[in-house]
Amino acid sequence: MNKENPVKIKFYNGEDIPLELHKVRIVQKLHLVPIERRLEALYEGGFNTFGLKTTDIFLDMITDSGVNAMSDNQLAAMMQADDAYAGSQSFIRMQKAVEDVLGQKYLLPVHQGRAAENIIACAYIKKGSLIPMNYHFTTTLAHITQYGGRIVELLYDEAYKTTSSHPFKGNMNIEKLEGIIIKEDASNIPFIRMEASTNLIGGQPFSIQNLRDVKAIADKYGIRLVLDASLLGENAYLVKQREPEFAEYSMGEIIQIMTGMADIVYFSARKLSSSRGGGICTNNDKIYREMEPLIPLFEGFLTYGGMSVREIEAIAVGLYETLDETMISQSPDFIRYLVNSATEQGVPMITPPGVLGAHVNARDICKHLDKREYIAGAFAAAFFLISGVRGMERGSLSNQRDEYGNETYADMELLRLAVPRRVFTLSQIKYVIDRLVWLNENRELIGGLKFVYEPPVLRFFMGRLEPVSDWPQKLIAKFKEDFGDSL
Ligand code: F0G
Repeated sequence: MNKENPVKIKFYNGEDIPLELHKVRIVQKLHLVPIERRLEALYEGGFNTFGLKTTDIFLDMITDSGVNAMSDNQLAAMMQADDAYAGSQSFIRMQKAVEDVLGQKYLLPVHQGRAAENIIACAYIKKGSLIPMNYHFTTTLAHITQYGGRIVELLYDEAYKTTSSHPFKGNMNIEKLEGIIIKEDASNIPFIRMEASTNLIGGQPFSIQNLRDVKAIADKYGIRLVLDASLLGENAYLVKQREPEFAEYSMGEIIQIMTGMADIVYFSARKLSSSRGGGICTNNDKIYREMEPLIPLFEGFLTYGGMSVREIEAIAVGLYETLDETMISQSPDFIRYLVNSATEQGVPMITPPGVLGAHVNARDICKHLDKREYIAGAFAAAFFLISGVRGMERGSLSNQRDEYGNETYADMELLRLAVPRRVFTLSQIKYVIDRLVWLNENRELIGGLKFVYEPPVLRFFMGRLEPVSDWPQKLIAKFKEDFGDSL
C-alpha cells in the first residue's frame, strides 16, 4: 500500500499505481511519427528540442508552464468574464480568490511570473544589492542582475546530490544565511527569496520548519521575505506527505501557513492555477504602495495587469482548485511513479521524486561523453529520436559562456521530463519509462553535439546544433533491430 496516496485507494492485487481522479472530456490528437521522420525533425530543429514542432512530437514534456489541463469550471468561468479596462468584476473575483486561498489582502496583477520578478526587482534592487535565495530560477536571476543586483544560493550540500532520500532538498541553509547577512550588512539585502519546490534542482520542496527558521532570521535583521509561489500547491502537498507535523492539515491550512510568513508572495499563474498570467500579493499596504505605480508602467491598468479577463477568471477558479488534494496530487504522484519505476529498472534519476517533472541524470548515463559535447542536450535529442517524447535540457547548454567566451559547465546534466497536471495517462507514463530503460541500456550509442549556430544570449532557446558523428543513424539501426516496425 502506498502510504503517500492521499485518497487511499487500494488495489486488490496490491499494485501501487496512481489512479486518475478526473475524467477526460476534451481530447487532442497526438502524433507519433516514424523514427526516420523524427530524425528529420531533429535536423530541421537544430538538434534542440525547442526547435521541434508539435506535429512531430508524441508526448510534449518540455514544461508544465501554461500546459496543465484546465477544468470544466475554469472554462465555464472564462465564458462569463467581464471585459473592462478598469474595475472589472473578473479582477474582483481574482482578488477574492487570492484573499481566500493565499490569505493576502492586496493583489497586483501581472502578465506572467517573470513580470512579477521585474516589478519586485525594479522596486527593491539597487546596484550592488545582494539577494540570498535557496536557488535561482533563470528569469529571477536575469531580472535581479538586470537591476544591478547579485544573488547567493544557500542550499544545503544534500541538495546537490543527485540521489538522496532527503525529503526537503529545497531547504535554505540557515547557518549560511545568517553568516551572509552579518558579512554583507542587512542594509544591502532588500529581501530574502524562497522558491517553493525549487525548480532547477529537480522540483524539490522546502519544509515549513525551514521557512519558519528563515522567517526568524529575516525578522531578526529586519529583511523582507519574498516567496515565489509558482509551485506552491505542490510544495504544500509534499509538506503534508513528508513533514509529520502537518500530516493532518488541509491544503488550505498549509498554504496559508507558508504565505503568512512572507512579506511578498508572487506567482506564475501558468503554473499555480493552470492558466496564464500572474500576480504579486501582500498584506502590507506600504509594500503594496511601493510597487503599485510600476504596474500601469510595465503591465497595464491595476485591474488587469496585461492579462485578458478570461485568464483572470481562470486563475480565480484555479486558485480554489489548488486546495483540492485530488487535483494537486496528480502530477507529483505520477512523477513519483515514473521516477521510482525508472530507478528500479536501472535508469539514473534525481531522487527523491519532486514536483513539476521527472529528472533524468544524463551525466551518469553518458559517462563516455566529454562535458564539451553537451551531454544533457545530446541525451534530450537521443530520447526524442527513439520515443517522440520531448523533454528539456537542463545542463551546460542552458548555461551562458563567461565574459571571456569560455564554457561554464552546469552542476548537473539533466533531462527534465515535465508532467503537467492531468494531461498524461498512466499508459503514456509507462511508455516513457519503457523507452528510458531501452535508451539507458543502449547508452553507448549516444554521441555528442556541437553548435552550428550559437546565439550570444539564452542560447538554449534558439541555438542550432548537429551530432558530432553518425550516432543518430546507429541508434536508429539498433532501435529497428529491437522494435521491428513499431513506431
Ligand atoms: N518562478 C519559477 C519557480 C518558475 O518555474 C517560473 C517559470 C517562473 C518563476 C517564471 O514564470 O514563465 O510565468 O514568466 N518556469 C517555467 C518552466 C518557464 O518551464 O519551468 P513565467
